[in-house]
Amino acid sequence: MDIETLEDLLKSRRSVRKWRSDEVPDEPLLKAIELATLAPNGGNYQGWHFYVVKNREVIKGMAGAVQAVADKVASWPEAEQWRETVERYRDTCAFFGEAPACIAVFTNSYESVMDQVLSQRLAFDPEAQAIDEFRRAAPTGIQSTAAAVTTMLLALHQMGLGAVWMAGPLIAKKEIEELVGAAPEQTLICLVAVGNPDDFSRRPRRPVGDVVTMVR
Ligand SMILES: Cc1cc2nc3c(=O)[nH]c(=O)nc-3n(C[C@H](O)[C@H](O)[C@H](O)COP(=O)(O)O)c2cc1C
Repeated sequence: MDIETLEDLLKSRRSVRKWRSDEVPDEPLLKAIELATLAPNGGNYQGWHFYVVKNREVIKGMAGAVQAVADKVASWPEAEQWRETVERYRDTCAFFGEAPACIAVFTNSYESVMDQVLSQRLAFDPEAQAIDEFRRAAPTGIQSTAAAVTTMLLALHQMGLGAVWMAGPLIAKKEIEELVGAAPEQTLICLVAVGNPDDFSRRPRRPVGDVVTMVR
């Protein structure tokens, strides 16, 4: 593949939040997950797990749980100063209830040798506590899962499907974990809603010069 072909793929992908109602076959979903597992990941631990939800009641249940938490948060007096944004969030947070499929992405807790050494000293050594905090600021398991989700989105897009990565539903993390039947050691990272696209909006990016600093 030449760089222009890769560039076309990257430039044409966008988040899709509206889908046609037709069902998505298992094959492209499983292919996208298979390719996602080729992503770089800490220690090649591969602690991710993917629940592919096509059951309408479960998808609706997840969206309903998110809506319920959003409604509750919106009712708190502290939400008042951001009323307009909070209401917009309330109106839109459950859109994925209409998705033909939803992939719930999980990670197991990943403990490298470094984590294990540090954990032995946390109780008494402030230096070990500081190093541990640096690591926890960007946990390897979450970084690895994010790499997999990025790969998955590109694969889905290349197969003509439209998807959106969603961290917003984490407000109903426990309910979603229960609905998909997750194991206790699995932690929900995000949902990826998928279907045949019926929405082609595109979000611009800042110029690359704005986000790069060369350290020579
Ligand atoms: C970590 C992460 C969390 C996101 N959470 C949500 C979400 O909860 N709801 C949503 O509609 N989109 C969500 N998105 C999609 C972003 O809004 C989208 O990627 C961004 O606006 C850029 O648009 P594009 O993907 O079309 O290029 C999320 C994306 C990422 C990477």
